[in-house]
Amino acid sequence: MNDTFYITTPLYYPSARPHIGSAFEIVGIDAVARFNRLMGRDVLLLTGMDEHGEKIQRKAEQQGASPQQFVDDMAALYKKMWASLGISYDDFIRTTEPRHIECVTAFFERVYNNGDIYKGTYEGWYCVRCENFLTQAQLVDERCGDCGDKASRSSEEAYFFKMSKYRQRLLDHIQQHPEFIQPDFRRNEMLSFIQGGLDDVCISRSTIHWGIPLPVEPSQVIYVWFDALINYITACGFAKDDDKFAKYWPADVHVVGKDILRFHTTIWPTMLMSAGLPLPGQVFGHGWVLAEEGEKMSKSVGNVIDPDDLIDAYGPDAVRYFLLREISYAVDGSFSTQKLINRINNDLGNDLGNLLHRTLSMIEKYFDGVIPGPGAKTADEEMLFAAAQGLVDQLDDLVGTFQFNRALEALWRLVSEANKYVELCKPWALAKDPSLRERLSAVMYNLADAVRITSLLIEPFLPFTARKMLDQLGLEKQEGGIRELAQWGKLSPGGKVRKGAPLFPRVETESSSSSDV
Ligand code: MSP
Repeated sequence: MNDTFYITTPLYYPSARPHIGSAFEIVGIDAVARFNRLMGRDVLLLTGMDEHGEKIQRKAEQQGASPQQFVDDMAALYKKMWASLGISYDDFIRTTEPRHIECVTAFFERVYNNGDIYKGTYEGWYCVRCENFLTQAQLVDERCGDCGDKASRSSEEAYFFKMSKYRQRLLDHIQQHPEFIQPDFRRNEMLSFIQGGLDDVCISRSTIHWGIPLPVEPSQVIYVWFDALINYITACGFAKDDDKFAKYWPADVHVVGKDILRFHTTIWPTMLMSAGLPLPGQVFGHGWVLAEEGEKMSKSVGNVIDPDDLIDAYGPDAVRYFLLREISYAVDGSFSTQKLINRINNDLGNDLGNLLHRTLSMIEKYFDGVIPGPGAKTADEEMLFAAAQGLVDQLDDLVGTFQFNRALEALWRLVSEANKYVELCKPWALAKDPSLRERLSAVMYNLADAVRITSLLIEPFLPFTARKMLDQLGLEKQEGGIRELAQWGKLSPGGKVRKGAPLFPRVETESSSSSDV
């Protein structure tokens, strides 16, 4: 069995700060990586920054900084944000690093030597002021979308990658490996795009200087996408560390937004084919987080949501939970402060927080804070025990297919069964009758065990909370495989609990009632 798991995020452009959309994307990826670690797999989670290109060069100039200074500052900012969101990346790659420049050079040479790169003429709309060929998106009424000047048709010598040569092989691969592009509806979109034709790609630029020099003509630089995609093999040792490369490549999954799925399912796989390298197992294209009104977030509209503000107000796990639980990963969804607050007050406060709090309070009250021994099983335990049955496999399936909302729903069934179990067994009534002491002990043991299993399994989604819950239960790091640990009865009696502050204090809003549960 292959016990490595290599998962990647896209590389972020340092031209903008991380926003709630980038947080949504990376929190999902982090949950998958953490879940796979829990399953005992050797995980490599790669993220990083895409630092070359004209946009960055221009942005740095506007701020009066050198491009390198600018990208250094932005990389630090991204790292800080990912730390506060609990992103457990194993490697943070930056395309300006020497290891990447060396890898791109080696990769280019391989493709060039295979005869798949040729010199031709690039023709397009050119902006003289910006010294740049404009993309379709940058061209507005034959003017440059950036500076507003009139654009003109122009041509220059440039290098091209023979993508068209691999069109049929790519189509065959996609058809023979339906899992290669996920979800299915996005595969169908990509298939019809590729069936419509695949042109060669211009992979050099002579008007841009902030980039990796083209090995065969160093006055030109390599096109930023050709450069950036290669990061996925730089990080696992291509042309440098053969053992590491053999261990992790091909990646299990590249997770990307729907807007960049095309680059990852046309240019990237054909580049790999040309270099004679295996293709990644899957490219998953997720949906977008839209602003509250269902609009695209944009700086000019002023509706960009900054994760830092939410983390400051509600804590990282509330933000993670909202993103994973409220919005389906595969399709677009809107951000909503009210829905975030509802999730905090209901799922996190009333369900999860309350379960921990009442369990520990009763262990303190009835057993001086010491976890009592388990007793005989009765019919009252049936529903509770059933809620954890097969849960690990179910989560493995759901997380593996990026259905985080359903995974959390399954986990919350356990939380809710445990809360129902409290109502069913009424420990406060058992405590009144000394002859029922043994039953009280069994009930409190089962509840503490339910809290333990829950904290183990929510770790990929709510890592900070999982740690706090285990601490309050008085448990150190649990040794062993998760399948084993997630079984009932693995909690050792005798440990002392340490009840702490409520996990998720209720968030009061103007519209919320004061009658707390
Ligand atoms: N640098 C390229 C990727 C190169 S990968 C070799 C890039 N960078 S980006 O910063 O513009 O986008 C990074 C990711 O953020 C993309 O996957 C994109 O889809 C995602 N998102 C940007 N806005 C988003 C939302 N509003 N919602 C969810 N994800 C969004 O493209």
